[in-house]
Amino acid sequence: MITGKRILLIISGGIAAYKSLALIRRLKERGASVRCVLTSGGAQFVTPLSVAALSEDAVYQDLFSLKDESEMGHIRLSREADLLVVAPASADLMAKMANGHANDLASTILLATDKPVLIAPAMNTRMWDHPATQRNFQTLIGDGLHAIGPGAGDLACGEVGSGRMSEPLEIVAAIEGILSGGPDTLHGRPLQGRRAIVTSGPTYEAIDPVRYLANRSSGKQGHAIAAALADLGAEVVLVAGPNNLADPTGVTVRDIESAAQMLAACESALPADIAVCAAAVADWRVAGEAEQKMKKDGSGQPPALNLVENPDILATLSKLNGTRPGLVVGFSAETETVVEHARAKRARKGCDWIVANDVGAGTGVMGGDQNTVHLITADGEENWPTMAKDAVATALARRIAEFFDADFDAD
Ligand code: C5P
Repeated sequence: MITGKRILLIISGGIAAYKSLALIRRLKERGASVRCVLTSGGAQFVTPLSVAALSEDAVYQDLFSLKDESEMGHIRLSREADLLVVAPASADLMAKMANGHANDLASTILLATDKPVLIAPAMNTRMWDHPATQRNFQTLIGDGLHAIGPGAGDLACGEVGSGRMSEPLEIVAAIEGILSGGPDTLHGRPLQGRRAIVTSGPTYEAIDPVRYLANRSSGKQGHAIAAALADLGAEVVLVAGPNNLADPTGVTVRDIESAAQMLAACESALPADIAVCAAAVADWRVAGEAEQKMKKDGSGQPPALNLVENPDILATLSKLNGTRPGLVVGFSAETETVVEHARAKRARKGCDWIVANDVGAGTGVMGGDQNTVHLITADGEENWPTMAKDAVATALARRIAEFFDADFDAD
């Protein structure tokens, strides 16, 4: 619970600063008070006026402002907070923090504080991958700071890769974790020592050397789950169908094309404690893939494609004897009576949980960034609010951690 907690939010320079405005709202809705510090870089992306209006407080920008210093010095800003959150944490501010600089209000507060600090890094993927940033990040973690993200995917700068700031609700979840004394996404690592297999993306089923049957799965949800499980300390093998996503950091990726290859890769990744089958596996493959490119034969008749059923990876893993993972989670994409179909699927496939979602026309789930899911377990069903796929992944990973460790509080 974060009701009544006092958050000092430091907004540094980066396009992700717009998400910090939403973060202020999400925190205020939950009864927290939010006081904001805006760096000069941050003020290039969001205005002090918007920040002040949303936080319903003054915005602090200047180390040497007589007004701010007399009314609210940097020591007092830190003293009157339960937690400092740096979102976005730019490469530059992280470098200052890692090296103990104190040459503006934000860095001075961060050097002077004895309160817990959560950073949400956000930057261009090359800046994030740069050894200097990685070194600084490791230093900050070693110094005992908490961190969330960054996630992988499309970046506002037009590139693809790691560097995207975590979504506001994920940051709220991390704040709740820290303030409740529970493990946060980097330090708690409640899945340390657990092995997980995650399937993701579509499968391609060859018709001939140049043609194949496929579907519209992007792999975003499965990749996000692999990343979220790794964040909680699991050793993750991600068995991925063709996709345009960056490999999640800290995850072993096995790229495959067909369902048969996906099953073989899953089986060779066993034993595992956790299996999450998020891939959109093709139900059928073409019997007897042509060795040469098929040609029109002049008869005007199209060739008949003879389809045979693919192995069901989820059902196979669920029904393993001896090597069955302790928790097997399937997905159920439905276009009608979502929950009923998902319940039946859970029983039919023999998995423990089903994450069910509506992918009907107009939902924009396939390929999109948002998802509205229902978690179906032996105990019943939960309807989760609409969340970013990254946030669904974080919430699911935390539920998985709770399954293995009842003391871990997923909420
Ligand atoms: O039967 P349906 O395809 O709707 O089931 C979806 C669930 O089953 C997903 O978890 C998907 O990854 C898994 N599945 C599988 N192998 C298949 C078909 C589906 O693992 N051949």
